[in-house]
Amino acid sequence: MRYGFFDDAKREYVIETPETPLPWINYLGSNKFFGLISNTGGGYCFYRDAKLRRLTRYRYNNVPRDTGGRLYYIKDGADFWSPTFLPAKKTLDSYRCRHGMGYTVFESSRNNLMSELTCFVPREENCEINRLVIKNTSGESKDISVVGAVEFCLWNAVDDGTNFQRNYNIGEVEVEDNTIYHKTEYRERRNHYAFFSVNKEADGFDTDLDMFIGKFNDYEAPLTVMNGKSNNSIAHGWSPIGSHRLEYTLTPGEEVELIFILGYIELDKAKKWDGNAADGIINKKPANELINKYNSTESVLNELNALSTYWDNLLGKYIVESGDEKLDRMVNIWNQYQCMTTFNMSRSASYYESGQGRGMGFRDSCQDLLGFVHMVPERARERILDIAAIQFENGGAWHQYQPLTKRGNADAGMGFNDDPLWLIACTHAYISETGDYSILDEMVPFENEAGTEKPLFEHLRASFNYTLNNLGPHGLPLIGRADWNDCLNLNCFSEEPGESFQTCANIESNAESVFIAGMFVLYGRQYAELCLKLGSKDEANRAYEAVEKMNEAVLAHGWDGEWFIRAYDSNGDKVGSKENNDGKIFIEPQGMCVMAEIGVDDGRAVTALKAAKEKLTFEYGTCLLAPAYKEYHLNLGEITSYPPGYKENGSVFCHNNPWLSIAETIAGNPDEAFEIYRRICPAYIEDISEKHRTEPYVYSQTIAGQEAPTAGEAKNSWLTGTAAWTFVNVSQYLLGIRPNLDGLGINPCLPERFKKITIKRIFREALYNIIFERSNEKGLWVDGKKIDSDTVPVAPAKSIVDVLCKY
Ligand code: BGC
Ligand code: NOJ
Repeated sequence: MRYGFFDDAKREYVIETPETPLPWINYLGSNKFFGLISNTGGGYCFYRDAKLRRLTRYRYNNVPRDTGGRLYYIKDGADFWSPTFLPAKKTLDSYRCRHGMGYTVFESSRNNLMSELTCFVPREENCEINRLVIKNTSGESKDISVVGAVEFCLWNAVDDGTNFQRNYNIGEVEVEDNTIYHKTEYRERRNHYAFFSVNKEADGFDTDLDMFIGKFNDYEAPLTVMNGKSNNSIAHGWSPIGSHRLEYTLTPGEEVELIFILGYIELDKAKKWDGNAADGIINKKPANELINKYNSTESVLNELNALSTYWDNLLGKYIVESGDEKLDRMVNIWNQYQCMTTFNMSRSASYYESGQGRGMGFRDSCQDLLGFVHMVPERARERILDIAAIQFENGGAWHQYQPLTKRGNADAGMGFNDDPLWLIACTHAYISETGDYSILDEMVPFENEAGTEKPLFEHLRASFNYTLNNLGPHGLPLIGRADWNDCLNLNCFSEEPGESFQTCANIESNAESVFIAGMFVLYGRQYAELCLKLGSKDEANRAYEAVEKMNEAVLAHGWDGEWFIRAYDSNGDKVGSKENNDGKIFIEPQGMCVMAEIGVDDGRAVTALKAAKEKLTFEYGTCLLAPAYKEYHLNLGEITSYPPGYKENGSVFCHNNPWLSIAETIAGNPDEAFEIYRRICPAYIEDISEKHRTEPYVYSQTIAGQEAPTAGEAKNSWLTGTAAWTFVNVSQYLLGIRPNLDGLGINPCLPERFKKITIKRIFREALYNIIFERSNEKGLWVDGKKIDSDTVPVAPAKSIVDVLCKY
C-alpha cells in the first residue's frame, strides 16, 4: 500500500494522507540552522548543535507520537483546524504534504477555506520561514482568525528535559512589533536569542504556555484558539512560547498571506543590549534586519528559488537515465539528498536520534563523506580535517565529537579499533574526487591540542600503524571495544543492567576482528597508493607487505570452510563460525573481505557470497547474522541483548547490504548485486509502505530480519551510513563510475535488462557525458578514440568529454 507518490519532475514525495504509518519527515536547512519537519508539521529547530542550541521544544516518545513543532490554527466561525492536520486533528477536506529538497509544503482545505503553508530555511540565513496563504473559496465572506505558535526550548535540550527546579524560573521573553523574543539566559552568559515574528499587524499574542493552552486543554484545542482571544501574556519562567493571533474578514475569493519567521540571532558580547545590561532590553537590530528582509512575497519566493538552484547544482553532478524510473529517482534525487542530510546531521538529530546524545561519529562521518564528497568537496575537505583533529597520537580516536566544540565526547568513549582506518578511506575518496593532494600537507593537531599539529598524511600513517601495533595471536587486528559493529563487545563482560556497552570497563584480551582485517587490506592498499603518489616508495612497500601479510592471516585464520568467520573472542574461540550454535555466519566479513579482494583468486569469495545468499538473504534484504542469538552472551556483549531479528542481532542492518552488493560486482554477479540493492531500496518497496512503515523515499538503519515477528518493518530512518554506502554502490559499482587517483574509472555491472544508459558526471570540474551500450565488442571510447584502460584520464576543467562504454 502507498500513502503518496513520487513527483520526480519537482523532486518531491507527495504524501496524500496525514495517516502515514509513522511520522514521515523532511529536513530543512543546509548550513547552520536546521529544522526537522514531519508530514503533520511536527519536529523542531536548532542552530548547529541539536543538543546545545535547541530553539524549539519537542517531546520525543510522546502520546500521540508527533505533537509539537509548527503550531498553526485557522479559526473559521466556531470551527478551527490546522493546515498541517496536527495539532488540531480536524478532518481535512483535502490534504497534501509535499516534501521537497530542503522545503515542505502543506496544501489543505476545510469548509471552503484553502491553505498553503510553505516551510523552508533560506540558504545563508539562520531562520525558518513559514509562509501561510489562506484563501476563501466560498461564496460568502468569512471571519477568520489565524494563530501561529512555537514552544521555545531553553537552549540545552538535555537540561530542558530534566532540570525543572531551575528551568521553571529562568524563562524570559520580550514582545515588540509583532515579534516575540525568547531571551532565556541572555542576561548571563548567552549572547544569542531566538524570535518568532509575523509580517502583519497581530491582534494578540501569548508567551506563557499555560495561559495559551488553558487549564486542562492541550495543543489539540488551546483555550485561546477556541475562545478566539489572546491574553497578551508575558512569561516569567515556566514554559515560554511565541504565539500570534491575527484576525481577518475574507470576502469570496480573497486571500491573505502571512510570513512567520523563527529566527536565531548571535551578537557580539559588546553589542548585546539596547542600552544598559541592567535594563535588560536586548539589541533587536539584527533581528529586525532579518525580519525586514523576508517580509514580502517576492523576497520569500526568491529565496525558495535560490534553494532550488542550489539543489540543481548539487544534484547536477551525477545524473543517470537508465530506463528504470525507480533507479533514476533514487540516484538522481533521494539517495543523494539523504547523503547531504547525513553530512549535516551525522547521527545527531532525527525522529530516532534525539539530538541530545550523539555528536558526530568518527567512523560515521568518514563513511558519510563517501556519499557527499562529489557534491560539496570543499566542505568534505573541512570535515576530514575536523575529524582527524580528534585522533590521538597513537592513531586511535575519540569515537564521537560535538560539532559546536569540536571536542571528543567522553560519553561515547574510544578504542573502537576500526575507527582509524576509515580516515584513510575518506581521504582517499576525497583525493580521488578532487585530485587535491594538498590536503595531506594540512597541519592537523591530535586531540585538538595546540602544539601537536602534524600534516594530515601523518594522521593517515598513524591510522595505518594503529592496526599494525594492535595485532592479536593470529596476526589479525585486535577488536578493542568493538569494530564497525558497535555491539560486538568481546571484551566487555557486562552484568550490570543499564551499563553502557560502549564505555564499560574492558578486560585485557586478545579478541580479534576479521572485519578489521578486511578493512586493513582494502584501505591499507589505498594508503600505499597515496604513498606512491607522494613518491614515498619505501613507505608504500612497507604498506603493501603488511597488507599482504594480513591477506594471508585472513586466509589462514579467518576462513571457516564456506565463509569468512567474524572474530575470535577473548578466549580465542571463533565467532561467526559453523562451530557456533547461533551467530554462525555474519554479513560484515563476507562483504568487507571480498571488497578487499581476499579469496577472489581461489574461489573463496564466490563461496562466501553463496553462503551469505543462502543463509542471510530473504525477501526484505540480507540479515546481519544467522541464526540470531536467542540468549544473552556475556562474552559477546550488546549484540546478544537484542531480541532475535532486531538491530545488530540479525535484522537487515541496511548499512552493510551495499558491501555485499559491491562484493557481488567484484565477483562478477550483476544479477545478485542488483537484487541486493533492490531489496532494501526505498523506491522499489514503496508499495509495501504499510509493512515497511518508515518513509519510502529514504533508507532506514534496520529492517526487522527473517527471524523477527515483524519481518520487513523498518526503524530508524534517515541518519544511517546506508545512504552513503548505497550511493557508492549504485553510482560506483552497479553503474560503475568510480573516481580513482588517475581519473574516472568506468566499469558497469548491471543485469541484462539494462541496455542503453546515459550518465552526466561532473568530475574535477569537467563534464563527462557517458553512454553505456550493450555490445559484443567491449571497450571504452573517449571522444571517439578507443582507450586501453578502464579509467578515463582527467580532462581540463570546464571541458566536455564524450565517453562511450560498450559493455
Ligand atoms: C546500537 C548501535 C549503535 C550503538 C552506539 C547501540 O545501542 O545498537 O547501532 O551504534 O548503540 O550508539
Ligand atoms: C550505528 C552506528 O552509528 C555505527 O557507527 C555502527 O557502525 C552501526 N550502528 C553498527 O553497530
